[in-house]
Amino acid sequence: MRMRRKPWARPELSKCEYYIKNPCDAKGKWLNLFEKAQPLHLELGCGKGVFLSRLARCNLDVNFIGIDMSDDILGVARRNIEKEFEGISPKNILLTRYNVEYCDKIFDSNDIVDRIYIYFCNPWPRPRHHKKRLTHFRQLDKYKNFLNKNGIIHFKTDDDSLFSDSKKYFESSGFKIEYITHDLHNSEYEENNLLSEHEILFSNQGIPIKFLIARAV
Ligand SMILES: C[S@@+](CC[C@H](N)C(=O)[O-])C[C@H]1O[C@@H](n2cnc3c(N)ncnc32)[C@H](O)[C@@H]1O
Repeated sequence: MRMRRKPWARPELSKCEYYIKNPCDAKGKWLNLFEKAQPLHLELGCGKGVFLSRLARCNLDVNFIGIDMSDDILGVARRNIEKEFEGISPKNILLTRYNVEYCDKIFDSNDIVDRIYIYFCNPWPRPRHHKKRLTHFRQLDKYKNFLNKNGIIHFKTDDDSLFSDSKKYFESSGFKIEYITHDLHNSEYEENNLLSEHEILFSNQGIPIKFLIARAV
């Protein structure tokens, strides 16, 4: 469902010191845009930043970039981040608006990324739209250009067919599946699982959360 327009989102983002207005200009230079040199993680399709804000607050020793294609949604993400950081601008988050399908225009091999989160991306159920999926092998090939050697991708979805297809995309693109579960909340996964907005939404409806970790080899 499309989010209602937020007239305040663009004005607030334009004043936000951690919102990158022209991500193409940052290509190859993302690491230099953070105050501290530390590992870089990306969330693709970060939505309202529910997961990103908590993750960044719990991991101040990691730099994060949240990307979404909607300014209205990023405006809400900015407010959620400010809330999580109690009104202080975080030093370890950058937000930017871009269509991840074209991520090769904003990242290159100098932007060494250690981890990518893809949580509840659009399942694009029609076969002719599959190439728009953020886990499609066409996308995975692009991510490999800036994902560190041995870097990992965390992928979660509620959608069975996107999940089984994505497993194949990862394997055929040379990723090793290190962990996989079809019901994360009833699994033995031991890491602290921070919930995203859609993870809360779907699990409250009793839909099992599918989750995998794939490593670039
Ligand atoms: C279903 S929401 C999931 C949000 C969040 N990851 C979560 O788990 O709650 C999908 C988000 O991805 C964004 N999105 C979809 N396709 C995208 C693309 N090609 N590039 C960037 N963002 C995209 C949408 O605007 C939306 O905010």
